[in-house]
Amino acid sequence: MIAGEHVILRAFEREDAERCYRWMNDPSIVRTLKSRYPIAFSNEAEWLERAMVPSPTERHFAIERKDDRAHIGNASIDEIDWVSRTASFGLFIGEPGAWNRGFGSDAIHTLVRFAFDEMNLQKLRIHVFDYNERAKHVLLSRGFVQEGKLAREFFREGAYHDIVILSIFRDTIPHAPESQP
Ligand SMILES: CC(C)(COP(=O)(O)OP(=O)(O)OC[C@H]1O[C@@H](n2cnc3c(N)ncnc32)[C@H](O)[C@@H]1OP(=O)(O)O)[C@@H](O)C(=O)NCCC(=O)NCCS
Repeated sequence: MIAGEHVILRAFEREDAERCYRWMNDPSIVRTLKSRYPIAFSNEAEWLERAMVPSPTERHFAIERKDDRAHIGNASIDEIDWVSRTASFGLFIGEPGAWNRGFGSDAIHTLVRFAFDEMNLQKLRIHVFDYNERAKHVLLSRGFVQEGKLAREFFREGAYHDIVILSIFRDTIPHAPESQP
């Protein structure tokens, strides 16, 4: 497992399927992700089975609180390019009760440190819907920079939305925060 200050990133287990299924069908989570249609439990369980198998191009993690070891979200590093040493990533805190308590920031910081210090990647990027103000705030305040914008890239809730591309580079990563959740 990978220890952050307030969270732990660990491998998925089959027992995580029910929570993942619930989160991937929660409109408040799904509106910030590219997932669009309701997901059947069997499809989510199949996704989880695949996510548990090590892949050269993607890695998946369950996010746990460090204090009570509750599984509160998921994170992925994907599109890994071992020549250019770049990758994409995504994550969510699925339990709304755990939002705005510092867990998301620490999960991002922990994932970024692992990608740079252990996987020897040199750049990570993430796509965020322009209307996802919380994610943009967290990422920009954690050292990410906006590299570009895909205009009218995604249709959601009856309108087209821009997607911003936020990136962080190993040689500009900021130091760990001092804050407590
Ligand atoms: C984005 C996400 C990971 C952040 O996790 P979190 O645990 O809630 O974040 P934190 O508690 O670490 O930080 C929240 C910060 O956002 C700020 N914030 C909250 N709501 C906000 C809003 N509507 N607009 C701007 N900032 C906001 C808080 O004030 C806090 O800022 P601070 O650290 O400077 O005080 C989480 O909300 C989430 O999973 N969202 C759904 C999925 C998602 O958006 N994933 C990322 C894009 S793929």
